[in-house]
Amino acid sequence: MFKSAAMHNTEKESAARAALPYVRSGMMVGLGSGSTVAGFIGLLGKAVSSGLIENILCVTASASSETLAKKAGLQTVAINDISRIDVLVDGADEFDNDLNLIKGGGGALVREKILASLADLFVVITDSGKKVAMLGNSKLPLEAFIFCVHPLMAKLTQK
Ligand code: A5P
Repeated sequence: MFKSAAMHNTEKESAARAALPYVRSGMMVGLGSGSTVAGFIGLLGKAVSSGLIENILCVTASASSETLAKKAGLQTVAINDISRIDVLVDGADEFDNDLNLIKGGGGALVREKILASLADLFVVITDSGKKVAMLGNSKLPLEAFIFCVHPLMAKLTQK
């Protein structure tokens, strides 16, 4: 069945709203990247400015989420300055029936994985447009460290 972009946007909004109760006062909150997380950042900012949630610190998976978090009035810290995250909220590129995921389509691969490794709880927010019968439909960017680009390229172009 064809589902419109508007419907997916509504679902993204609902998903972002559903993630909010996972954040409580005093927490270290990880913010992933993508449009669904952007909605979540907006809601979290409102919850903090209204006093519903107090004393949280946020750590972000991308420069764009960092900008959004600051605009929303959230206090951010660098990954280097933390040792753990209470709850990480991030989107996904694909998910299957068993809730296996593919992430990284936004290109924030390394930072996302680092945040995920530090998180006690990982809440994934997404919409039905990301559901696939089998993972592997979407193209994934490749993130390479500058010090190993050449051997990596050689490996990837090997026949
Ligand atoms: C980031 O690398 C991605 O994994 C995103 O989390 C994913 O692309 C979700 O994007 P949307 O929320 O924009 O659909």
